Amino acid sequence: MGWSSWNTFAHHIDEAVIRETADALVATGLRDLGYRYLNIDDHYQGGRDADGRITHHPERFPGGIRALADYVHERGLKFGLYSDAAERTCGGEVASYGNEDLDAQTFADWQIDYLKYDYCHAPEDRGAAVRRYTAMGRALRATGRDIVFNVCEWGGRQPWEWAAQAGAHMWRTTGDICDSWQGGSGVYEHGIEEIGFELQRGLERHAGPGRWNDPDMLVVGMRGRGNVAGSMGFAGCTDDEYRTHFALWCMLAAPLIIGADVRSLDDVSLEILSNDELIAVDQDGLGRQGRRVATRDGLEIWLKPLLFGDVAVGLFNRRDAEASATASWADLDITGQYVVRDLSTHKDLGVRGGSSASVDADLPPHGCAVFRLTPQGDAEAAVHRPG
Ligand code: GLA
Repeated sequence: MGWSSWNTFAHHIDEAVIRETADALVATGLRDLGYRYLNIDDHYQGGRDADGRITHHPERFPGGIRALADYVHERGLKFGLYSDAAERTCGGEVASYGNEDLDAQTFADWQIDYLKYDYCHAPEDRGAAVRRYTAMGRALRATGRDIVFNVCEWGGRQPWEWAAQAGAHMWRTTGDICDSWQGGSGVYEHGIEEIGFELQRGLERHAGPGRWNDPDMLVVGMRGRGNVAGSMGFAGCTDDEYRTHFALWCMLAAPLIIGADVRSLDDVSLEILSNDELIAVDQDGLGRQGRRVATRDGLEIWLKPLLFGDVAVGLFNRRDAEASATASWADLDITGQYVVRDLSTHKDLGVRGGSSASVDADLPPHGCAVFRLTPQGDAEAAVHRPG
């Protein structure tokens, strides 16, 4: 969990933005909710120095990266950077192919805790990707520093099948998200609906502790401002769409990386990102990714197994009109009695069980409700049965 500069700022970053963002993550309480990684994406780089080491951009980051990392660490946050498995990054900056060992050591000397490693300008084939990511995975490991490694090749070479072995802890599953329910026509213009409901299907079996599918960073709170929003012609999402985006990413056990400007978040967006009961579903220690278990004319029922026999149940409305959604115990493949809590409204709904038991909600267009079910007595969920 954390924040990344990309969705809002792209190349309009500098060290003041990063320092102010570190302060804002603390002041808003987001750090204490778990958003601990402050990740600088593309465009912090200068070039290479006489010894071949990557340098910082002289105007955007005159104080250097190490000083900035110290500032971030002093505020109880972790610090992330970005590079690419070719000679240039997606934004045309200097990148790490052929210099993996040297760059990993430079990054470790700068005290980074996270590296996102992109794939622009690199060969199409899967074999090359495996080799290039393995080279950086090994180089990071050899530094001896604890660094989260994010493989970002957008899912085209099925990274869920090989990236963990290349040293990755997470891998992007799709092209880039944009601040829109529907997205646009380009490959880097995915909307929330397509990424969350369609493009993660079947990938749940590849996720687990220390190995996560990454459906890209959050757009909650962007409100049409910044790089993957207004700059690309997208006007942003409704409050209900942002709520659904957040809840769905939590059901997906996705990395929760905020992309909005946290220095100026509106109250509703801060409240959405601060839902600690949904965060607990996302971060649950069982480490299982949720999935859709039923669909009815644009209404979807999702289930995510949690520790100690609990289950999270999501009701999602993909229709453009209001709708009532219901998930019966049969839909969820559970039996017996459960204590039910509504995680969207933070209300206990009592004990439910028996053959006609269900959870239900009236949902606005593109809205959702998420419930946590805690087993009582001999309650049982099929997803928790051995074998
Ligand atoms: C690619 C990635 C984005 C971002 C940019 C940076 O498009 O998918 O998330 O890192 O490159 O240039």
